[in-house]
Order: sequence, then structure tokens, then C-alpha cells
Amino acid sequence: MNIQNILVTGGAGFIGSEVIRQLVTLENTNVINLDKLTYAGNLENLKSVESNSNYTFVKGDICDESLLKELFKTHKISKVIHLAAESHVDRSINDPLLFVRTNLIGTATLLNVAKSSWEGDYINKVFYHISTDEVYGSLNFGNDLFKETTSYDPRSPYSASKAGSDHLVRSFFHTYGFPILISNCSNNYGPYQFPEKLVPLCINNILNKKPLPIYGKGENIRDWLYVSDHADAILTILKNGQIGETYNIGGNNEWSNLDLVKVICKTMDLKLNRPEGDSEKLITFVQDRAGHDLRYAIDSSKIQKELGWTPSLQFEDGLKLTVDWYLQETEWLRNVSSGEYKSYYKNQYG
Ligand code: NAD
Ligand code: TYD
Repeated sequence: MNIQNILVTGGAGFIGSEVIRQLVTLENTNVINLDKLTYAGNLENLKSVESNSNYTFVKGDICDESLLKELFKTHKISKVIHLAAESHVDRSINDPLLFVRTNLIGTATLLNVAKSSWEGDYINKVFYHISTDEVYGSLNFGNDLFKETTSYDPRSPYSASKAGSDHLVRSFFHTYGFPILISNCSNNYGPYQFPEKLVPLCINNILNKKPLPIYGKGENIRDWLYVSDHADAILTILKNGQIGETYNIGGNNEWSNLDLVKVICKTMDLKLNRPEGDSEKLITFVQDRAGHDLRYAIDSSKIQKELGWTPSLQFEDGLKLTVDWYLQETEWLRNVSSGEYKSYYKNQYG
């Protein structure tokens, strides 16, 4: 029996927790979740799996070399799905060094420990880095798409730190023959997303009748993918991806920010029995984000053709599921908004 012991970093975050919820259902799989529990990490996201016998949580930092060495040894780690990161562009504009520390130094530290722990025995080993389409820079309006071969052109401290970490990961493959996989995905939405990101921020603010801040004119375009479809793509790549390869993941679902926010408003009005057009009145145009990338759009034909993955959800259905989840999980939203989720677990994990 071939048991896989998978180290997931950043598993208490938005995407990581969905990856873990899917991973624990696999046979012969143990999941070790290493997470520092920053503001974005929340163990409430993992309540449904916390008592699973194949799931272990470790509070810690991906920059902590000795902890990483210990984890690889104790848990006989054979695969790494590396999601831990500072993930919010606006925060990266305010504190770029934090992004360099976590996303670059953290990834370098993790890579180095994985390499020394596996000591050249790379059979059945994988280091899989979860990255973003933002490394490719910004597209003009039109039909151009980011391909795996598109040159990197990151333009925010966040995307630059992710681009740097992608380069480091790829350099280990070319230099040492170290077994890596990388995927670059478009904007995710869905349950458990911290309400600083556009979709949950709007849902939360509509609920509380607060302004919906739109940067600039709201004409910037993003491609949106439901989080469980991203996690499904990650599991597909982990299983069948070719070592050394990069896969773009996207929803083929482009929206300008203004149109997206209007759809969220409409969906919320219906769900909350508010008069049509009520929430749109909350839309407020604010100063544009510094260096705001105009458009992201993904060509995901490689993963579709080579690995047979396609998104399973239509955007309208994904959005309804998302809105329903936030309306049901008002306590989660309240705890996250007030910071209460931190004190809940403080006694347990310090
Ligand atoms: P998130 O901010 O919700 O979660 C990040 C997690 O990493 C948190 O649980 C946090 O506590 C943990 N973390 C941060 N610093 C750490 C450290 N030093 N050591 C250990 N843990 C640490 O992020 P997310 O949206 O779930 O994104 C996960 C990954 O996917 C990131 O690498 C991000 O770049 C990438 N990604 C995100 C999106 C998106 O739309 N959210 C799209 C493409 C790629
Ligand atoms: P965000 O959710 O922060 O993701 P990213 O910057 O990684 O794409 O933002 C999505 C888009 O929405 C982006 O173009 C910035 C814009 N935006 C707003 O207009 N207002 C907001 O309050 C936020 C958070 C984002």
C-alpha cells in the first residue's frame, strides 16, 4: 500500500482549507496542515475535518527551518502542496517586505528543507507550488490570454513575490532535478474567503448596508473561478501532472469589476427580499489602486487537454452558492470581521 503523507502549507486559509476538505477524502492519504494562523488563517474553516484521523494541524511558520525539518522527518512527508502566502494585493502595497519574507524567503526555506529531507530520492515525491495568474502582468482589453509560455511581468509587490517564488521553484527543477509542479490560477471566489477580497467584501457590506468601494471606474477585468473547482484542479495536477510542468487554471469567466458588483447586488437583493436596485445604491467609486492591473484572462487549454480538467460550475450557480453560504454562516462572518476567531483558538495554539 502506497501511503502519501502530504504537507499542505497555508491550509487554514481560503483555498488551502478547501484543498484539505477534498484531500482528506482520498484513500491512503495523510494530511499535515502547517499554518502560521495570520489574520487570514482561521481554524473555523476546518471544523468539518478537525477530528479526521488522517488530518493533523501544526501551527508554525514556513520560514522556520528547524520546524520544517522536524515535520518532514516525523511525518515522512512525500508531497508538498504549498499555498501559504500573503495573498492580498492592497496589503502588499502597504507592506511589501512582509510579502518578500513570506512568499519568497518562506518558499525558499521550504524548498531547501524538502530537498535536503528527500536527499536525492525523488521517487513519488512532489513539491507543488500554488501560484497566481498575476505573475504574467496585465492584459489590454481584447481577446489576449495568459498562456503557460507568457513571459512574467509582475507589477505589484504581491505578484512580484509570487513570480520570484515561481522562479525559485522552477530553478530547483532545472538545477537539481528536484520534482516540482506549478499552477497559476485566476481569481477565486466562494465560501470561507476573507472579506477583504472583492466578492465577500461586497456581500458583507451589502448585508450591513455599507458602501461598496469600486476602485477607479470599475472597468478592470478579472477571470473568476469557484474555489472548489480550483481545488479539484489542484488534486488533478497533483495526481496526473507531469513533473517540471506548469498549468494555467481559469474559469473562462471574465467580468469587469463594476458588472461583477452589480450581479452580486442583484443576487443579494433577491436573497434578502430587498427591492430591486436597492444594493446598487451602495456602489461608491473610490480612488484607484496604485498600479492597478487592467485585465487578467487565462488560457487553460493545457490542463483541459492534457489532464481532462474543466470547471464544473457555471458562474451564476457558483455565485448563488457563495451568497447562500455567507448568508447562512453569519457567525463565521461576524467572527472574522470582529477578529473574534483569533481569541477562540488562542488558548489552544498560543
Ligand atoms: P489566504 O490569504 O486566504 O490564506 C493564506 C494562508 O497562509 C493563511 O491561512 C495564513 O495563515 C497562511 N500563512 C501566511 N503566512 C504564513 C507563514 N509564514 N507560514 C505558514 N502559513 C502562513 O490565501 P488564499 O486566497 O487561500 O491563497 C492561497 C494560495 O493561492 C496563495 O499562495 C495565493 O497566492 C494563491 N492564489 C490565490 C488566488 C485567490 O484568488 N485567492 C488565486 C490564485 C492563486
Ligand atoms: P481582489 O479581490 O483584491 O483580487 P486581486 O487584486 O488579486 O485581483 O480585487 C479584485 C478586483 O476588484 C481588483 O481589480 C481590485 C478590485 N477591488 C475594488 O474595486 N474594490 C475593493 O474594495 C477591492 C478589495 C478590490
